[in-house]
Formats: sequence, C-alpha cells, structure tokens
Amino acid sequence: MAELHRSDSLTFFVNGKKITVKDADPETMLLSFLRGKLGLKGSKYGCGGGGCGACTVMISRYDPLTKIIQHFSVNSCLMPVCHLHGAAITTVEGIGSSKTRLHPVQERIVKANGSQCGFCTPGMVMSMYTLLRNKPKPTMDDIRETLGGNLCRCTGYRPILDGYRTFCESENCCQVNDTGCCLSDGEGPLESIKNCQLEQPNNKVEFLPLDPTQELIFPPELIRMLETEEKITETFQGERMTWISPVSLNELIQLKAKYPQAPIIMGNTNIGLDIKFKGIVHPIILSASRVEELFKVTHKPDGVCIGAGCSLSTVRGVLEKCVSSLSAEQTQVHTALLQQLSQVGGEQIRNVATLGGNIASAAPNSDLNPVFAAGRCSVLLISKEGRREVPLDKDFFVGFGKTIVKPDEILLSVFIPISRKDEVVRAYRHAPRKENALATVNAGMRVLFVEGSNVVKEISVFYGGVGPCTFSADKTIQQIIGRPWNEVTMSDAYRTLVDEVTLGASAPGGKVMFRRSLTLCFLFRFYLHVVQHIKDMNVSDGEIPSEELSAVEPLPNTIQPGYHEFPGVSEGQSMQDPVGRKVHHQSAVSHATGEAVYCDDIPQTQGELFLSVFTSSRAHAKIIDIDVSGVRNMPGVVDIFTAKDIPGKKVRSFIGIDEEILAENEVTCVGQMIGGVVADTKLHAKLAAAALKIKYEDLQDSVFTVEEAMEKHSFFPPQRQIQRGDVTKAFQEADHVYEGEIRLGGQEHFYMETQSMLVIPIGEEKEMKVYLSTQHPAMTQEAIAETLGIPSNRVYCHVKRLGGAFGGKLTKTSILASITALAAWRTERPVRLVLERGEDMLITGARHPTLGTYKVGFMKDGRITAADVHFLTNAGNTPDESVLVVEKMLLHMDNAYNIPNLRGQAVACKTNLPSNTAFRGFGVPQSMLVIENMINDVAMTLKLMDEKVREKNLYKGICLTHYKMEFDSENLHRCWTQCKEKSDLDHRRLDIARFNEQNRWKKRGIALIPIKYGLGFAEGFLNQAAALVHIYKDGSVLVSHGGTEMGQGIHTKIQQVASRELNVPLSLVHVSETSTSSVPNTTPTAASFGTDANGMAVRNACQTLYKRLEPIRKQNPNGTWENWISKAFLDRISLSATGFYRGHDLYIDWEKQEGRPYAYFAYGACCSEVEMDCLTGEYRTLRTDLVFDIGKSINPAIDIGQIEGAFIQGVGLYTMEELKFSRSGVLYTRGPGQYKIPAVCDIPLQFNIYLLDESHNPHAIYSSKGIGEPTLFLGSSVFFALKEAVSAARKDAGLFGPFPFNSPATSDRTCIACNTQFTQMIPEEETDKSKLWALELP
Ligand SMILES: Cc1cc2nc3c(=O)[nH]c(=O)nc-3n(C[C@H](O)[C@H](O)[C@H](O)COP(=O)(O)OP(=O)(O)OC[C@H]3O[C@@H](n4cnc5c(N)ncnc54)[C@H](O)[C@@H]3O)c2cc1C
Ligand code: FES
Ligand code: FES
Repeated sequence: MAELHRSDSLTFFVNGKKITVKDADPETMLLSFLRGKLGLKGSKYGCGGGGCGACTVMISRYDPLTKIIQHFSVNSCLMPVCHLHGAAITTVEGIGSSKTRLHPVQERIVKANGSQCGFCTPGMVMSMYTLLRNKPKPTMDDIRETLGGNLCRCTGYRPILDGYRTFCESENCCQVNDTGCCLSDGEGPLESIKNCQLEQPNNKVEFLPLDPTQELIFPPELIRMLETEEKITETFQGERMTWISPVSLNELIQLKAKYPQAPIIMGNTNIGLDIKFKGIVHPIILSASRVEELFKVTHKPDGVCIGAGCSLSTVRGVLEKCVSSLSAEQTQVHTALLQQLSQVGGEQIRNVATLGGNIASAAPNSDLNPVFAAGRCSVLLISKEGRREVPLDKDFFVGFGKTIVKPDEILLSVFIPISRKDEVVRAYRHAPRKENALATVNAGMRVLFVEGSNVVKEISVFYGGVGPCTFSADKTIQQIIGRPWNEVTMSDAYRTLVDEVTLGASAPGGKVMFRRSLTLCFLFRFYLHVVQHIKDMNVSDGEIPSEELSAVEPLPNTIQPGYHEFPGVSEGQSMQDPVGRKVHHQSAVSHATGEAVYCDDIPQTQGELFLSVFTSSRAHAKIIDIDVSGVRNMPGVVDIFTAKDIPGKKVRSFIGIDEEILAENEVTCVGQMIGGVVADTKLHAKLAAAALKIKYEDLQDSVFTVEEAMEKHSFFPPQRQIQRGDVTKAFQEADHVYEGEIRLGGQEHFYMETQSMLVIPIGEEKEMKVYLSTQHPAMTQEAIAETLGIPSNRVYCHVKRLGGAFGGKLTKTSILASITALAAWRTERPVRLVLERGEDMLITGARHPTLGTYKVGFMKDGRITAADVHFLTNAGNTPDESVLVVEKMLLHMDNAYNIPNLRGQAVACKTNLPSNTAFRGFGVPQSMLVIENMINDVAMTLKLMDEKVREKNLYKGICLTHYKMEFDSENLHRCWTQCKEKSDLDHRRLDIARFNEQNRWKKRGIALIPIKYGLGFAEGFLNQAAALVHIYKDGSVLVSHGGTEMGQGIHTKIQQVASRELNVPLSLVHVSETSTSSVPNTTPTAASFGTDANGMAVRNACQTLYKRLEPIRKQNPNGTWENWISKAFLDRISLSATGFYRGHDLYIDWEKQEGRPYAYFAYGACCSEVEMDCLTGEYRTLRTDLVFDIGKSINPAIDIGQIEGAFIQGVGLYTMEELKFSRSGVLYTRGPGQYKIPAVCDIPLQFNIYLLDESHNPHAIYSSKGIGEPTLFLGSSVFFALKEAVSAARKDAGLFGPFPFNSPATSDRTCIACNTQFTQMIPEEETDKSKLWALELP
C-alpha cells in the first residue's frame, strides 16, 4: 500500500531527450511543463480545456507485452505530467526547424499559405504529424477528422486542408466524381477540371517527400526501462493534491476503499476541467492508468467486454474490428456506438478520454450513455465487497453527474452485446457544430420485433441533453410495444413523447423548444430507419415515400480543393520584383516550426510576477467593501491594488467620454475590473484573486437589452441620423410599404492568443519596457503614461506579433496594459498578465449585438423607393468606440444600393453588460445584414427572386452615396455580373427548385450578395503613417513602420514594397517588430488600412534612400547593391531614413450629413448555396463563389487568405456564434466548449475565389485595395441561402411570404423557422421570455 507524503520520480523523453522529474506536482500539466520548465514554447495555450488544439503534441507509448509502439495526439493542456512515466513526447520543435530542416508537414503548411497569425499552426502541424506517423497515405476524411479538434480563427482552414491534401494518395484529384478524378474521363465540370489543373497549392515536385524512416524513433532506453523496471506504486505530492498511481487492480481497490472520495484520474478530460475551471480541489487522486485489468478487451460469443480504462479511440478500434468480423445483424449496437464515437470531441480528446470516465462522469449529454442504455450494455463494478454486474439502464443514471456506482467502486469493464435477430439499434446526435462539440440532444434507440413480423416486442428510447441525466422515454415506449411499426403507432408515440419530455422554460442550456422537437425528430428518423430495415429483411413491404427519404440521408461532406483566379503581374515586371506575386507570410516558417515568439513566449525575467485581475460579480451595484485581509497572506501574494492606488489618470476616454480603468465606487457589469492581485506564480495570483471578498449593494435598475435601454433612455450620446430625399413622401407614393426587423447577436473575437503583456520597469528614470499584443502600441503607450503620471517618452511599447486580434486588441488592451504597468510600477518588478480564455471572453467585450428595424417602400417591379432604418446597438457598460461603430453602420447602410429616399438612425445603448468594442467590420456587418434582410423581405413580398430585386436596386454608373460622396460603380457591376456567371446561378436555381420539390426534409437555398465597402478612417487625422528604414553596411535592410502584424501579412507586404523600391531581393529586407521607440505617434492597425498607409510611408522612406544612392549608382552602374552600400557608407551618406504618409482628408459632417469619409470603395459579390436539414436545422455550404475587387493585389496569396478567413468568420457570425448571458447579466459562454467558432467541418465544400481583373485604384499603394474587413460580410450569403432553404421548407408547411429569421441562424432558429409538424407539436408556453435561461439579445 502506498505511503503518502512521498514523491517518486518520473522518466520520459521529450523530442529524444531524457527528462527526469522529481517532485512532480499533480496539478502540473504537460503544456506548462514544456513551456515553463523546458522552454519549449512552440505548443500554445489557447484555452486550457481541450477545446482548441493549440497545445497539441504527440505522445508515443511502448507496450512491453505486445512490443507495440503507439502514437497519438493529445491536448497537452489536459495531460498531467504525472501520467507521463515511460512516454516519449514529440513537440513541434522536435520534428523540424528553420535551422536544420523543415519536416514535410511544416513545409506544406508554409507553402500552402496555411498560417496567418500562426498561433494555431504548431497544433495543426502536430495533429497532422501524428496522423502521418500512423498513416503516411491518409485520405481526405482522415485529414478532416484529424484536424477536427484544432481551431483556427484566421485562415478559414481551406489552405491548411489543401496543403495537407498533398499527402493523400490522390492529392491531385478533385474528388468530384465518385469513381475518381474528374479528369479521368475528361467530362468533369469545368470548375473541377480547373481545380485539378491549376490550384494545387504548389506543384508536388516542389515538396519535400515524406520519408517515414527519417522520423524520431521511440527511445531504446525507454524500451529497456519499460521492459525491465519493476512496476511500483508512484506517489506524487503537490501543494494541494497527492497523486497515487497503483500498479495492480487489488491495490487500486484497497486505495479506493481507503479514499472513497478520491476520484480516479484517467484521461483527465472531466476532472481536469473541474479542477481548473470550477476550482474543485481533490486532496487525493488515484491514477489507474497502469492497472492492466482496466485495459483488457475480451471477445465472447455473446458480445465484447472492453476495459473501462480504454480510450475512446481504442474502443473505436475494437468496435470497428467487431463490425468487420461479425454480421451487420449482430453489430447493431457496435455500429450505433461507432457513429457516436466518431463525433465525440476532437481526436485529441478521444485519444485520452476513457470509456469508464465517460460513463462515470454521467454527463447529461454523454454521447455514449444513451446508446449503452438502449443497447442492453452492462458494466462490471468492483470494490472490496466484490464484483457486481449492473445494466447500464435507466436506473444506472440517477442525477446530474451521478450514477449508482458507490464511492468505493471501480468501473472495471463494459459489456457490449451482439444484437439479436429482428433487432435494430440506432444512435442520433445534434450539436451546435457538426464536429468537436458536445451534443445539444442525442439518443440511443432499439427495437426488437416479434419474429417474422413488424409487431414490436421490445423497444428502448433513451435521450441525452433533455434533463439532468440520461433519460428513458418510458411512457412513449409503452405506446409502441405490442403494436405494428407504422405511422399510426408512431403518431401516438410522438404525442406521448411531447408530454413526457418537458424541460421547463428556464432549463439550463435553453433552446427548450428545439431540444424537445429534436426528441421527436430523432424518433421519426428511427421510425424511417427501421421501416427501411424491415423492408430489407422482407418482414414488411412498407416503403418510405421517396421525398421522405431525405430525412435519413446525411448532408454532403466531401471538401474539394479551393480554386483561385487572379490577374498575374504585367509582362515586363522584373523577376526580382515581388509585388503582385504570391509570397508566403514572412513568418510562415516560424509559425510552422513553433519558433514564432508571441508575448507569453518571452522567457521569464528575473523576479517576474504575475497579475490576476478581480472583477465584479454583479451587473449593477455599489461597492461597499473590498476585504483583502484574508488574501494578503496567501502563498506568493506580493501586492493587491484597486483604483485608489492609481497615481495618474484613473480614466480613459476613447470618444470623449471618460471610463474608469478600475471600478471605484460602483460596478456596472459582471466582469468589470475592480483591481489586481500580484503574486509569484500565475496560480497563486489566480487563487488569491478568487479568494477576495467584495461586498456589494445591488442597484435595482439594471438594463440588459436594447429594448430596456430604449424604455429607460439609456444611451451614449450622440445619437446619429442621416437622410437623403423625402422618405415620408416616397412611402406615400410607393406601391407597397413593409415593416420588419432583424436581431443580430454579438460575436466574440476569439483571437487564439488571449490578451497578453509583460511590463518591465527599467529601474531608472521611470522607464518602462512593455511587450504586448496590441493593434495600437501608441495608444497603449499613452494610456500607460497617463495612468502612471509619467511622460510618454519613458514608455517603450514593443509588438512582435499578435496571435490574432480582429479589433479586440485596441482599446481594451490599452486598459489592461495600464493595469499591468500599475502593478509593475508598484512592485518595481516585471509583471506579466495573460488572460485565461474565460477571463478574456468575460472582460474584453465583443461585437455589438444590434436590433435593426425598418420600414421600406417599393414598387411592384422591385424598385425600392424609400427606406427608414433604425439601428439599436448594445454598447454595454462603457462607451468605448461604440458611437463610432454606429456612425459606420449609418455610413454603410446603403451597401450597394441606390435607395433614393433613405433615412437611418443609430443609437449606442448603454446597458449593464460588458462593454463592446471594435470587431472586424466595425458595425458594417450588422448594418448591411439589416439592409439585405429588408431587401429579402421585399423580394418575398413580391414573390421575386432576391437577386432580381438586388440587381434592380444596385448603384449604376457614377453615383452619389447617401452622404453625397461620388463614386464609380462600374467594378461593383463587374463583380456582380461575374459572380452570377461564374456561379452559374440561373441554372443552379432550376436544380435547386427540383431538389426542393423532391425532398421533404432537406432543402437547398442559394443567395447572391453584393458589397460596397469604404476603406480608410472617417476621422481625418487617423489617415497617416510613418516608417523608419535602415540599410546596414552588409546591404541588409531593416524596416520599421507603424503597423502591427496580427496575421494579416502586413510585414510581408511591407517587405515587398521595400524590395521593389530599393530594387533589392526580398531576402535582404527584414521587418522585426513594431515599436513606439522606432516609429512614434502611430495610428491603429485597423480599418483594413494598415498596408495602404504604412506601405506608403515605407515607400517614401525607401525612395529617399534610393535617391541618396543615385550618385553612387550612376558612378558604378554595374556595381552590386552591396558595393553601393559600402561606398555610400564610406562617402558618409546616411543609410537611414524616415518616411511619412499624409493620407486623404477624410471627414463626415454629421450636421450637413455629407462628407468623404472613405478614400475609396472595395467591391465584391458572393454566391453561396446550402443544403439544410429541416429536422435539425443543420446545414452545409455546398459551394461558394466569391468575386472581389481588390485593385491590383500586392500579394494574392495573402489577400486570398484574408478573403477566406474573413468569409468564414462571417459565416460564424451569421450562422453559429452565440454569446449567451444569464438573466442577471453573467456571460455563460466563456470558452470553446460553449462558444462555437467555425471549425474545419464548416467550410464550403467547394470554395472558388476570383480577384477582379483590370481594376485600378489611384488612392492606395500600387493600385491595391484594403482587404482585411470587407469579405466578412459576404459570409451573409450563407445566411441568406439558409433563409431561402427555410423558406422552401415553410412552403411545404403552407407558409409563404416574409418571416422572422434572426442572426446567428443557429440550428435551433433554423429548425424552428422551418415550422415542421414536429416543432408545431411543442406547446407555446415553453417560449415564455420572462422565464428563459438566457437573455434574448440584443
Ligand atoms: C473538449 C472536450 C470535448 C468533449 N466532447 C464530448 C462529446 O462530444 N461527447 C461526449 O460524450 N463526451 C465529450 N467529452 C467528455 C469526455 O468524453 C469525458 O470527459 C471523458 O470520457 C471522461 O473520461 P476521462 O478518462 O477523461 O475521465 P477523467 O476526467 O479522468 O475522470 C472523470 C470521472 O470519471 C471517474 N472515473 C474514471 N474512470 C473510472 C473508473 N474506471 N471507475 C470509476 N470511476 C472512474 C473519475 O473518478 C472521475 O470522477 C468531451 C470532453 C472535452 C474536454
Ligand atoms: S490549450 Fe489545450 S486545447 Fe486549447
Ligand atoms: S493562423 Fe490559425 S489562429 Fe491565426
């Protein structure tokens, strides 16, 4: 029996190097060990909860009995170091580097332009690397599944998939024809042929070959150790927990008897989250990962017995073998389980999460438990008292996270029986995202017929996600038993089920009506599946009508290679000149090798401390007291501070209205920062901040929604209005007038790198060095200086790169940096702040949720003659930049349409929710959606095709916007026409109509959406930039400019500019960082304006330098660049120059309602087609064709990357991403577990991008156009295609004309809007708003 208070040692290998750890702390995860102890910073911390894959590494294990080595990917953030004895770990650093050789898996993501900010890239690389170690020639399905657990917020996944497609045996194949490549018979569709011929990311011959013999071998020393060492019980004693790892079942039983409350730790995918996010402390934990009996698999004649310790991936393998060796009739349960297993978490989760853990965790929406229960499976339990086998049925699961397993019992194995003759088993599941998402509702169902008949002998129907635990629909099955399997029986069953599954309006998780309707839909699907089955068995001749078959057919799933078309460079352009060519992101190799340094990768400095902020738990309250007494003496605590400790300005002002940096007397939202705790470690700071006691006096007048704000006149001034024409008169003269509205939820930035910063006091003259991840270093510098009451010339902000930003690292970062600087100022030590994902989501705000209401007047032919539109945005508790956001909404409310009489009003509502902020598009994605929805309503009212109404109202020729800015709309038309042609819209409409007629439960829709987007800052002074260019004696060039690199490739484009202007190869030009010391007084990198402005400034500096060199060049025209530079130095010519760009005098005069707020417009059009499942609301984007006018692209690789990434972010905004707040203003969605951004499974199956040719732009560098933001809105083409599919479903239900359809069009909204017979069965009272679990925003 193990002794306590003793720490053993662990031996494992990392990248071929032996590591011995004494005194391992059970709370230390592999990720922090790699990053902290070994300095391997390649693996990233994106969420800490297994939800993002940024921390993926490969673990290899050797089994001394079978002599088999297994490789599997894991999330290192959830892998306890104590689990690692005997393992070999491979991280991104271990497979290749820029100094030695890139691994093919790194090289291909580089060459495919598969990284932007690069924060997700090491995780992607390691997931793919692990797949290739196990399967050097994978299929596309393998790749899709492997990357399913890795999130990327920048790229939109297509380039990553296309890069890795090259590892497939058939990588050159478009995979369009089921039988093979479209080229094989030469008759494939034109687009696909082009895909095959042109759009492999690179020619195969240029890739390094994958040579499995060159991989790191499993360390022989570990093999020897594992074969010879005596297995002894390991004990590890940490600060708060003791880890005991026995080696025999008997010992585990004894330990469990002694410590019944101690959990058994296996995959740590459940306990790990409890410890980390719920603050649960287990003084003792028992690791059973070395107890062999838990991993045994025994095949018996009546079924298979699988050890409870087997990982879900192992279980999958075992079941697959059973399915291939037994008949389909015998493996009904196996097949149903396999179906669920393929969708449990991501691959990294399935590789560690165990069977026993899943059952014992008894999550209400466990995917396996309903199938176990329906499938007559049982579990073997063992304790000191002996063994007992219990069925995994309805009596096993007794409450939330509770089963009948006694505290001292261990789950030893699970028995999965073979199914009997005349038995059918199926599983169903719906989740907010197709992959890597916990189920909303799932089900396991089984029916056994009286032999040779269709009369039901036994039936089980179990659901997950409709109550605290796995639920058995007992009353419903009573309706079915003994009756024939037909529609009459099922009609009775549905009615009973509606009464049986009641959730209550306030049920946790919300979506009550949808969840209840899913239970009906799953039963309906089961009915159809069984009808098919018994017909195949010749038991019944009942047949499913062909249009009903669509209920059981899966949505299409084959992702084809992306196709891109863009104009090439002009014929005479020198080969050395990189402008206009596809150039990889300058940091792509660093991203892929894990060498790229992000803020939190900067090594710890001497005496460094960590900051944790403490925040309000009330939406609106007075702060009565902050009790720090119990916290000061907590381990490691160095300092605690609040607003009163700020030596300088206590407020920041972004639009002329002050907002507190730290709340002093009153809090106005949950998550508002009140103060900070500084401690020696992150954990100590976090624990101390959590232990602080704050006494509040609640104030009763909280405002959460825009409607409440309107009622209480709660706004941030000024309210804005814009008008042209005579709207009132035009309404009187219109053929029709229609009033409608659309609600848009917010959107979390979800940059993969959370807010991070390090402030180092220099120790003299009040100087501060600040390393941080911000889009606006100059604003941060100013904020810190003002907060500390020191001049700006003492604060030096450095930004190497950002792991994504999207507008979220502007204002909020400057406040966080001010607080961190305050901590460093007070302690006189370096202080680091890296927000946890949940804190980041809680504190830093999001895109503004918006309510758009409109009145529109139009003629019979679809001409819109008048529109009056109101935008109410939920700004949250502080003004931030909200008024600027609503202004931009008004300036873009016309989108691409010439509405002669147009009025817009916009208000930023002050509410008690966290303050919202800039987000890619800055209000435009909201306002344009409102306008497009209005047009959609017009088309529906007139029964016209949407695109006809859109086309009719497009700007034509030289036009004036509603703020009287003149522009030429020719390129808008060209984009529209080309998109219509390239997407073959007219023909496809016919196909869609046919499809919709033939399918009752699947519907298709298509939408073509235009865009006109203004580039530049409407605030004139922001249109400026500066640069500093040095040429060194060896001829190398260092460029500094004001733009920050956040993945958008600005540094790469700047390199291209410098290369062209100085006429030197790209390789001589380097951009290292953005620093307020090199280039002062910069403007934010935002508004898609970074390259426009900074490119011009760099060009200016380079031209100055090139001119200075002119005499030397003339003297020695055949000299090399290096000769000239050396000569210039000897001639005492300065090789350093600043550059400046004074941009356009942009303005908008709100009094006169006119101006020129933008330098120019970018135009585009996008056509998307979706297929939607009416029963679940799930959809796939079948195809997207996007034509965009980007002027003359400086770098098509980067610009296409921006287009794809923004488009997918738009798809997320409009169809998936949902921020949920409790009715007391608490944000529920605080991580990838609850907040779903698009994953690999969400990209269009076919994605074609065309850059408009013959486009010129005199207003930006080299005739290019900004691209970061505009295409986000084009993601709405998917929203409107979906809306059209819903409309087709509604027609089947007898409903015509406009209908409410809000954004995001999540599955629940889509399904309910379809108004099927199933949703109609759910009683109305379930939708009582006053009782809902979450606020209905905006
Ligand atoms: C990102 C993520 C995504 C996920 N997605 C899904 C999903 O889509 N579908 C789904 O069903 N689940 C999902 N899960 C849940 C996951 O399947 C479970 O957390 C997992 O199966 C638990 O197994 P584990 O080995 O990690 O358990 P641990 O976390 O190690 O332990 C969990 C609990 O089980 C108990 N336990 C473990 N083994 C035994 C045993 N042999 N005897 C007695 N008690 C035992 C422990 O005492 C502990 O209380 C997801 C989890 C994460 C983190
Ligand atoms: S950091 Fe490990 S999965 Fe997100
Ligand atoms: S490149 Fe994937 S998150 Fe930025």
